[in-house]
Amino acid sequence: MDVTDKIAVVTGGGRGIGRGITLVLAGNGANVVVADINKDGANEVAQEVIDIGRESIGVKLDVTDQLSVDKAVEEILDRFGRIDILVNCAGIIASPDWEGRDRHNESDWDINYEVNVKGIARVTDAVSLGMKERKYGKIVNIASVSGRQGTLTNIPYGVTKAGVINLTQAQALELAPFNINVNSICPGLVWTDMWGRIAEQWGKSRPQWEGKSGREIYEETVLVRTPLGRDQTADDMGYAVSFLASDYAKNITGQSLNVSGGFFMN
Ligand SMILES: NC(=O)c1ccc[n+]([C@@H]2O[C@H](COP(=O)([O-])OP(=O)(O)OC[C@H]3O[C@@H](n4cnc5c(N)ncnc54)[C@H](O)[C@@H]3O)[C@@H](O)[C@H]2O)c1
Repeated sequence: MDVTDKIAVVTGGGRGIGRGITLVLAGNGANVVVADINKDGANEVAQEVIDIGRESIGVKLDVTDQLSVDKAVEEILDRFGRIDILVNCAGIIASPDWEGRDRHNESDWDINYEVNVKGIARVTDAVSLGMKERKYGKIVNIASVSGRQGTLTNIPYGVTKAGVINLTQAQALELAPFNINVNSICPGLVWTDMWGRIAEQWGKSRPQWEGKSGREIYEETVLVRTPLGRDQTADDMGYAVSFLASDYAKNITGQSLNVSGGFFMN
């Protein structure tokens, strides 16, 4: 898990799973750039990294906007000179009014594809240019167990997460000649703002959850779905990412690892 003095970038690092991954990478010795559409969140997490003794900056990044991606990468290279590790964690579940609807619509398809799939492709293409020149890089994409099998969580979301698993394999093939490893992890159930949105939408649209709080819906889902009987944490994702981003995993590429307490085993 040693990533000492590596320069890592975590997209979507301003809260939730991305924050956990950022802090675990920093705890394992990396200097970590926190890149997020929410600059304030990015800055706060960057300060947490500095507080544990590693270097960091918060960077404004919108993965749906090529200019924003190019500008962010330039800013990071100006400050750190290189990027060794890229974690593509920025993700979205649905468009903003989803909680008020009982089913997905056209805008859910668009936003999921823009952020979850094209966002990873855009950032990876920009960051891997320097990795290719230096013949070194570790890329970890955050997919989901929702990409392993069709689910009703939110159909466009699951489809795009299946896309992330496929994209990871294609990127691994494309970048292998440059000694760049590309893998993904598939988180199971982690209580974050995103899960808060899922629970709210389920609470409003599914009769079996009527009258339950978001947290109750989440906890019951964990018990029913998870053989190990417990939910996962953002730190759990950080441990898996740290391994895949370390040289201990130098012969692992194109793989997707479930970190789900046994929820999914494929
Ligand atoms: N929470 C779970 O149980 C769970 C399960 C499986 C997979 N995941 C995946 O983990 C990742 C993180 O999820 P989370 O639960 O922490 O969600 P979250 O909503 O709490 O955090 C998402 C982060 O991504 C950022 N972001 C959103 N759109 C962006 C954009 N266009 N450009 C840059 N940053 C953007 C947000 O500002 C936020 O900081 C996502 O890819 C999600 O699909 C989460």
